[in-house]
Amino acid sequence: MKKIGILGGTFSPVHNGHLYIAKEAYQQLGLDELWFMPVGIPPHKQQEAAVTRYDRLAMCRQAIKEFPFAKVREDEIHSDGANYTYQTMEYLTKEYPEDSFYFILGEDSLRMFRSWMYPERIAARATIVAAVRSVRQEDRMEELKKLTEEYAAVYHGRFMLLDTSFKDISSTQIRKLLDRDELTEEEREYLLQALPEEVLSYIREHRLYETSYMDGIYEAVDDKEEILPGKRYKQLQKKLQKDLKPSRYQHTLGVAYTAASLAMRYGYPMESAYVAGLLHDCAKYMTPQELIKYCKKHDLPISESEYESPQLLHAKVGARKAKEDYGVTDPEILHAITYHTTGCPGMNLLDKIIFTADYIEPNRCEAPRLTEIRRTAFTKLDQAVSMILFDTLHYLKETGKSMDETTQRTYEYYKKEVTL
Ligand SMILES: [Fe+2]
Ligand SMILES: [Fe+2]
Repeated sequence: MKKIGILGGTFSPVHNGHLYIAKEAYQQLGLDELWFMPVGIPPHKQQEAAVTRYDRLAMCRQAIKEFPFAKVREDEIHSDGANYTYQTMEYLTKEYPEDSFYFILGEDSLRMFRSWMYPERIAARATIVAAVRSVRQEDRMEELKKLTEEYAAVYHGRFMLLDTSFKDISSTQIRKLLDRDELTEEEREYLLQALPEEVLSYIREHRLYETSYMDGIYEAVDDKEEILPGKRYKQLQKKLQKDLKPSRYQHTLGVAYTAASLAMRYGYPMESAYVAGLLHDCAKYMTPQELIKYCKKHDLPISESEYESPQLLHAKVGARKAKEDYGVTDPEILHAITYHTTGCPGMNLLDKIIFTADYIEPNRCEAPRLTEIRRTAFTKLDQAVSMILFDTLHYLKETGKSMDETTQRTYEYYKKEVTL
């Protein structure tokens, strides 16, 4: 039986305050492990446009490098709806029935605990630990102690206070400073104190939190003018139309619109889905020789089945070109382009949207049971993905074409996920 602490949050960015709490909880509660659990789309906070969930995840990973007892869990990060704590705790206690959990929250959250969704279900599954600052203020401590006793009685659970007298660090303040062009000595010092070194270098390297850079996904197309989405699309389209032959360009528009519609249906940012759809085949005009040459030049690995059917390479080459020639920096868009042909096990929402849109867009007419797959795509996306993989593999087998190993693995994965 392990004692596991859970520290949830947006972690945008993760800072030394979080790490301090983690360390204190680990020591004071005698934990075996402490799990950082970044949320997917925060229900209440608006996410900064230029910082994706993968950035937040990557920063957490950087931050805990020196903390062997800490882990970063991805349970919530991939979810696109609200994750309520009671759901997470129910899931974790089911998954790890032997272990005991300590759910760590801040003082403000403790005061708000009554208004959380099903507080009694959380308290039934974890000890609630409130990390409290300024322990020297005795009145406040008394008041908080009383509050925890009251909660313990009402919710029949364990509540405790964690003594953490660390300096207040504010994510809002950090983000504000990161967006400044010039900093005073004092401000620079604040950032150095507030952020682990690796996290700060990650932020600088990826230019996170720089609002002027937020439009960066179109930067290579136009980095001077402030452009509206409609105009941005036109610029991307203009370049694509030059590269692709007319039928491929028509297909591209079909995928973009279908992806946008699926994004509306499943609550994904529509604009990103549209851009991913537009660019998914941006390398499709290249010959097999050109694709191989491009991969070699850019150090992109080529697998055996890709050597056998180099056309498969248009996906990863497309992702690289989207970044370099079209200025796309959003990793979710690039990931979706990379896997649009073969899929991959555990695809995220945008991956599935593009993978499916590519197959069902209105110009497609040859695949069997298209009507059924089209309808399913808008009701059960995972099932649609599974059907497409099944039909694709079946088609490849029948026509004696070579089967890509990733497609096979993806199919095995989704077969388990969905029973057809
Ligand atoms: Fe493609
Ligand atoms: Fe395509």
